[in-house]
Parts: sequence; C-alpha cells; structure tokens
Amino acid sequence: MKSYNIPFNKPGLAGNELAYIADALQRGHISGDGAYTKRCHEWLERELGVARALLTTSCTHALELAALLLDVQPGDEVIVPSFTFVSTANAFVLRGAKPVFIDIRPDTLNLDERLLEAAISSRTRAIVPVHYAGVGCEMDRITAIARDRGIAVVEDNAHGILGKYKGRELGTFGSLAALSFHETKNLVCGEGGALLINDASYTERAEILREKGTDRSRFFRGQVDKYSWIDVGSSYLMSDMLAAFLWAQMEHAAEIRDKRRRIWTRYRGELAAWAADHGAGLPFVPEHCEQSHHMFYLLLPDLRTRTALIEHLGGRGILSVFHYLPLHLSPMGVKFGGRAGQCPVTENVSDRLLRLPFYNDLTEAEQSEVIEAIRSWTWTS
Ligand SMILES: Cc1ncc(COP(=O)(O)O)c(C=O)c1O
Repeated sequence: MKSYNIPFNKPGLAGNELAYIADALQRGHISGDGAYTKRCHEWLERELGVARALLTTSCTHALELAALLLDVQPGDEVIVPSFTFVSTANAFVLRGAKPVFIDIRPDTLNLDERLLEAAISSRTRAIVPVHYAGVGCEMDRITAIARDRGIAVVEDNAHGILGKYKGRELGTFGSLAALSFHETKNLVCGEGGALLINDASYTERAEILREKGTDRSRFFRGQVDKYSWIDVGSSYLMSDMLAAFLWAQMEHAAEIRDKRRRIWTRYRGELAAWAADHGAGLPFVPEHCEQSHHMFYLLLPDLRTRTALIEHLGGRGILSVFHYLPLHLSPMGVKFGGRAGQCPVTENVSDRLLRLPFYNDLTEAEQSEVIEAIRSWTWTS
C-alpha cells in the first residue's frame, strides 16, 4: 500500500490517555460502566444538556439501540438521506424497516427538509437527519413536521459533537441522538459512540437493552438485589479502558475544538480565491449554525477533475479521500427500490466531493503543503 507524508487522518492524543488507561487497570474495573464511563456520561450530559448519555461501542450501535427503543418493526419506514454512511440506514434495516432515501440540500449537503412531507407515509416511524460535516440540519422544520405526524426524530450526530443549530446543541432535538468517537471524529477513542436521550421516558429501557436485556444497571446502583433478564438486548457497553482514553479527550475538548477551527478557517481563507477561479465549491455554513469543524471538503467541477486532483495530491505524498457513494444506488439500496435519478443532488455531489487532510495535529507546515499543492495544480478541461 502506498504511504503518504501527509495522511488523511491521524488520531491525536490530548495528553492523559495512557495515564488514564493505566489508572483504569489499577482500579481493577476495565469492563463497561466503570469510573471513566461515569465521568464521560456526566460530561456529555452537562456539556450537551441531554437528559441521559450512554456510551456505546460505536455510533452504529447507538443507532441500533435507538431502533430497538423505538420498537421499529418489519414493514416500518425510516427516512434517511441517501448521502450518508451505511449505518444511518442499516441500524433500522436490521429491525426489518425499509429505508426511504431522500435527497440533500445543495448548500449544506444535509437532508433536504423540503422533500420530507412527500416522503412520509402511514408506515413512517422515524426521520434520521445527519448533521453532515457537523453543520446542523434545518431542525425547526424537521421537528415540526415530525411532531405533527407523531414520527420520531433520531439525530445521527456522528460528525457534529459541540456543534449548534440556532444556539442549541446538536443532538438535543430528536428524542434520541447518536455520537461517534471513531478515530476519524473530533473526539476519539478508537471505536466508540454514545446514545443521547432527550425523551427521558426511554432512559430505563435504554439501560436494559444496552446491558444484554438485563437490569444490571439498577443492580449496580443498589436498586435491586439481583439482576435478571427483562427484555431483548445486546452488549453495547464501551470498555472502561476506552472510556479512560475518551475522558482524556473530553478534558481537552475546548483545545481540540480550537485546533480544528484554526485548520478549517485557514483552508477556507487560503483556498477561497483558488476555488472561485476554478469553479470549485467550498463548505457552506448558514449564519444560524455553529459547526463542529469536523471536515474540510472541496466540490470539484466533475468526477474527472476530482480524480485528477486526488492523483496530483497523491503524487506529492498527500492523501485526500472522497465519500459517500449514494446509498440508494448501492447493491442494498437498489434492493429497496433505489434507482438512478432518484436523488440528483446526492448523485452529483458524490462524484465531486473531495475531503482534505484534517486532524488535530496537522501542522502549519503540512497544511501549507496541502494548500500549495492545490493552488499549483492546473488541469485541462
Ligand atoms: C454519518 C455517520 N453515521 C454513523 C457513522 C458510524 O460511526 P461508527 O463508526 O462510530 O459506528 C459514521 C461513521 O463514519 C458516519 O459518518
């Protein structure tokens, strides 16, 4: 495999990760719901203002928990953007639901709320907005439509921790929301996630489903004298060793946020003129959104220019990547009736979007190299 001087992602250490893992070992509790998990839960509940936060093994698993909590059944429909990671849809498909793919807005690349009403049917159980790149979806409209129809909203906030929409934290709009701490995200622990619960009526059952269908959480709190099998469930707890790693990141969340903001702002500032001259688009952040600075992308004129730029950057030892392939056109999406032309913005953007190297410890010199490589690139159309 080709190696790159400037990778696309590099998980960064905030400082105390190894010390806290050693401490977790010393405490003799490295399974789930130990001292570090508790700290992470309290931090999330305080910083985000959610009723309850539960660490999970991934964002995918937090979404699966959400689907279980909503009692999604075979034949139910769940509305998701086509331009997203597979887990947004798969978590509900696992329960037998049919994903209904809708297109994205051409400006923020978020689920287009203007298409929602036409996509709703009597079988719609949930809407899953994804705050793409940590820029908030139009939550006023989405929650109003969902409320009117009695449909649940589950926010996939894998990208947007600490981002805000109209001054309110992303992840606090849906009855449930999911976070990711995968190594490519803003705060990381390798693999990890969290379920955020805003509708407190889900809390007790969420604890049970996450603990293999047992009331072990109540037992640990001394509320029952033995724990038993109560409900369906699975094993969704994060090991306290990973929670120890994550706690070290949470402690320095403000610093991490500042670093990412600096990187994002510099890319935009130094590539704006180049983008205007070359017909390329840059990320759009509405005035009423405070983004999480999760990623920086270019929207190239077409697939050919994107491929050429990837090669040009690769030749200089810089790895740039693209995503997402439209879900409605994937082999699974087609089984659910997906067809070409169904989500034209998604289909177009998917060919043109290019993500630039973006990680907390990207140095000024490395970023200069990336910017210089782009600015010096010429292509013939
Ligand atoms: C929008 C979105 N949702 C969900 C996920 C899944 O996250 P995890 O890897 O923590 O399961 C990702 C992963 O990149 C994602 O981008």
